[in-house]
Amino acid sequence: MEVKKALDIALKKCNGEIIPIQVNEFDFSYLYNFATEAIALYKSFFDLNNKSLLTVGSSCDQVIEAYAAGASKVRVVDINYFTKYYFYLKKAALLTLTLDDYLNYLSYNRTGYKATNGTNSDILSVNLFEKIKPCLKSLNNDAYVFWTKLYDSFSGKEIFEKMFFTFQELTDDEKRKCITYLSSNKEYKNAREKIKDKDPFFNCSNLMQYNARYYYDNIWLSNVLEYLSLFECNHITQKVVNCTRDNGKALICYLFAPGFKGSLEHIESKYNLEAIDITGYHAVDQQQVLIYTKRGNTNNKK
Ligand SMILES: C[S@@+](CC[C@H](N)C(=O)[O-])C[C@H]1O[C@@H](n2cnc3c(N)ncnc32)[C@H](O)[C@@H]1O
Repeated sequence: MEVKKALDIALKKCNGEIIPIQVNEFDFSYLYNFATEAIALYKSFFDLNNKSLLTVGSSCDQVIEAYAAGASKVRVVDINYFTKYYFYLKKAALLTLTLDDYLNYLSYNRTGYKATNGTNSDILSVNLFEKIKPCLKSLNNDAYVFWTKLYDSFSGKEIFEKMFFTFQELTDDEKRKCITYLSSNKEYKNAREKIKDKDPFFNCSNLMQYNARYYYDNIWLSNVLEYLSLFECNHITQKVVNCTRDNGKALICYLFAPGFKGSLEHIESKYNLEAIDITGYHAVDQQQVLIYTKRGNTNNKK
């Protein structure tokens, strides 16, 4: 979405206006500051080195993790209007700040949403924003305009509380366990090196309407299908199957509650998905990923 429109919606959100959504649709106009999935574990099932990835975004940690693992080309498809602008804010922070400052700048409650001991007063702090601003400007002028205009009218805390899912955040310890580039200074520097000259392509679009024009070695759909009807799950899964390259893999759904698969039960057997248990890598009880592997040789080239 072009910056003028995205900024208009963001300013409305920060002013407390409700953004209209269609009946039966969830409000995906919020951002996730960090991924809530155990990417560190599931990425080991995928071959990312010098390979392509199509992924949904929002926190954009999936993008950073993929580049850190050597991905050559990444495309982000996300219904959220702000994903692209958040990516550049994160990239500028990653390239400029230390790991601790990065966590301080982007974490709302570093001890997790279950804790009751208050929020991080440095969240999106203007002092840290001033540090990353020159880098942000050099990376992407639209993102620079977007964030600068928001900071002109609102504090970092106000921006965060109106635009982000404040209650869906892992603790620092869980983040280190679930997201590789946050696990140590060495991994953080590796991500910084690998991402500095790379940018994904962005499509601000609903996956239902998205028209995939290329094949991908890897596809990650996060837990999007958990929100959808059987018809929608089928439609999107078929689309993913069609654009997965031979011997490539797709994460069809990350399951936060594998005991309640609903429509996904049908998708799992219809597409012969592998359900992999990743319990123990995350604070929140049992979790699973549903993975599709494209077998055969159809010579897909696009
Ligand atoms: C469902 S959220 C979950 C985030 C996740 N827990 C994580 O760790 O990043 C993933 C992203 O999917 C996007 N999304 C949800 N439904 C979508 C759809 N139908 N088409 C495209 N993107 C969608 C949301 O905007 C959000 O950015």
